[in-house]
Amino acid sequence: MAPRPLLPGHLPSSAVLLISATVLALLVWKGIQVIRGWQYSRKHGCKPPLNTMTHGPLGVGTINKMMSASKEHRFLELIRGWHQTYGFTFGSRMLNRQAVFTIEPRNVQTILALKFKDFELGYYRNKAMRPLLGYGIFSTDGSKWEHSRALIRPNFNRSQVHDINVYEAHVKALIDKIPRDESTVDMQDLFFRMTLDSATEFLFGESVNSLKDATSASSASFAQDFNTAQTGLSQRSRLGPLMGLHRDTNFTKSVVNARAYVDRFVQKGIEYRRALDNGTVKFDELDQQYVFLYELSKQTVDKTELTDQLLNILLAGRDTTASLLSITFFVMARRPDIWHKLRQEVLKLDGQKPSFQDLKSISYLTYVLNETLRLYPVVPFNGRMANKDTHLPVGGGPEGKDPIHISKGQEVMYSVYAMHRRKDIFGPDADEYRPERWEKLKPGWAYIPFNGGPRICIGQQFALTEAGYSIVRIMQEFESLESRDSRPFEEALTLTLASLHGAKVGLTPVRG
Ligand code: HEM
Repeated sequence: MAPRPLLPGHLPSSAVLLISATVLALLVWKGIQVIRGWQYSRKHGCKPPLNTMTHGPLGVGTINKMMSASKEHRFLELIRGWHQTYGFTFGSRMLNRQAVFTIEPRNVQTILALKFKDFELGYYRNKAMRPLLGYGIFSTDGSKWEHSRALIRPNFNRSQVHDINVYEAHVKALIDKIPRDESTVDMQDLFFRMTLDSATEFLFGESVNSLKDATSASSASFAQDFNTAQTGLSQRSRLGPLMGLHRDTNFTKSVVNARAYVDRFVQKGIEYRRALDNGTVKFDELDQQYVFLYELSKQTVDKTELTDQLLNILLAGRDTTASLLSITFFVMARRPDIWHKLRQEVLKLDGQKPSFQDLKSISYLTYVLNETLRLYPVVPFNGRMANKDTHLPVGGGPEGKDPIHISKGQEVMYSVYAMHRRKDIFGPDADEYRPERWEKLKPGWAYIPFNGGPRICIGQQFALTEAGYSIVRIMQEFESLESRDSRPFEEALTLTLASLHGAKVGLTPVRG
C-alpha cells in the first residue's frame, strides 16, 4: 500500500506522540527540579536574591550588552555598574544560562574554598579552551585537574622560584631595548616580549628571544599564533552556549601552528627522558639549568599531555606578569610621586642586583604591586558552575543577608575588578591608586588577584619575583619616567586585562 501523503502542517500520529512525550518528560523533569530546589531552599533558609536582572526576551539583551561593552572596551565598568544598580549579589538570565553575579567576599570564599567540591570551571569554559589547551591544568575539573595540579605543583618549589638568575638575562635584554635618548617607548610591548622570553626559557629550556631577535621568523610567528589563539579562546568563552557560532580560520590555523611549535620541544623532552632511562645523561650536567619540561618528562612521556600542560602554563603565566608590569608603568608614568618614592627605596641597594630577600624587604614595592593588582586585577572577571544543588551564605532576601540557593548547573560569576573597588571595604578613596593603603590593609577574601582555595595561582611567587626584579633593575638604570600619552586607562580584555593604549613613556637614564 502506498504511504499516505503528509498534508502540510500534519505530522504522523507517532511523531505527535513522541513530541508530546518529550515535552511532558521535560515538564516533569523541570517540575521535579523546582520541587527539589524549593525543598533545598527551605532546609537551608535560602531566599532568592532581591534583584534579578533581565534584558530583552530570555535575557538575550544581557549577552548583547556584554558583547558591545567588550567591543567598546568597557566590559568591566558595565559589570561594576550592574552591581551598583542591582546590589552585591543579583540573579540574571542569559538564554539557557541562569547566573548569579556576586562580589561578596564570603560568597567568593565559599565558591573557591569552603565548598570547592560543589563548583567547577564548568562545561563552557573548559570547552572554550579545549582547542589550544587540551586537557591541562587550566581547562579541566575533577580528577583530571587534580592529576595536573599534582604533576605541576612540585615544579614551582621555592628554590626554583627564588632563583633570581632566571630573570636577569631577559630583564637585561629589555633594558637594552629602552631608548637612552628619552624618546617614546611602549613598555607594554617590551614587557609582553620579555615574559614570553622568560616563560619559554623556563618551560622549554630554550627562549624564543623575541626581545633580542624580534625579526626571527619562528619566534615572531609563534608569538603571533599564540596571541591569535588566545583571543579566539576568550571570544569562545564569552559566547558560552553560542560558541559553535565562532568560526575563524585564522584562529584554527594559529592553534595548529602554536601546538606544532611546542611539539618540537616536547620531542626533545621525551628524548631527554629516554636518555635518562638509558643512563646516557649525567644528572649534574642537566641540573645546571632548570627546565620545566624536563622535570615534567620525568613523570610522563605522553606527548599530548606534555604539550597541553606547557601551553596551559604559558597561557597562565605569560600575559599575566606582563600586564602587571605594564599597568604599573602606565600608572607610575602619571604619578611621579610614586616612582620617586619607590626609587628612593631601590637606591638603598647601592646598584647591587636584588636578591629574593632584597625584593621582599622593600615593602613599598609590595604595596605598589598590590595596588596595581587591586585596581587592575589581571584576571578581572571569573566564574564557576555548580555541579550539585548548593548554596552561598549571603545575597538572598530583601537585605541580601540570607543564604541563596544555587541549583545544579547554575553559574556564579564574580567580578574581582568590582569587588576590589568596593568603597565599604577599601574606603571612600577605593578608586584612587594609593599604595600606602597596604601599610594597614588586611582585606582577606575581598582581595583575590591570584584567586584562592585549592585552585589558587601556582605562579604567584614566580610572577611577583619577576615583576619586582624587573622594576628594581629598570629603576637602577633610569632616574625618571614620564607619560607620553594623555589618554586615561582603557581596558584591553581577552582572557586577561591589559592596557588598550599600551604604556607609552619616556625614560631618562642615570647619567654619569
Ligand atoms: C601577576 C601575575 C599573575 C596573576 C595575577 C595570576 C592570577 C591567576 C588567577 C586569578 C588564577 C585562577 C584562574 C581561575 O581559576 O579561573 C590563576 C591560575 C593559575 N596560574 Fe596564575 N597568575 C599570575 C601569574 C602566573 C604565572 C607566572 C604562572 C606560571 C608560570 C601562573 C600559573 C598559573 C596556573 C598553572 C594556574 C591554574 C591553577 C589551577 O587551576 O590549579 N600564574 N592565576
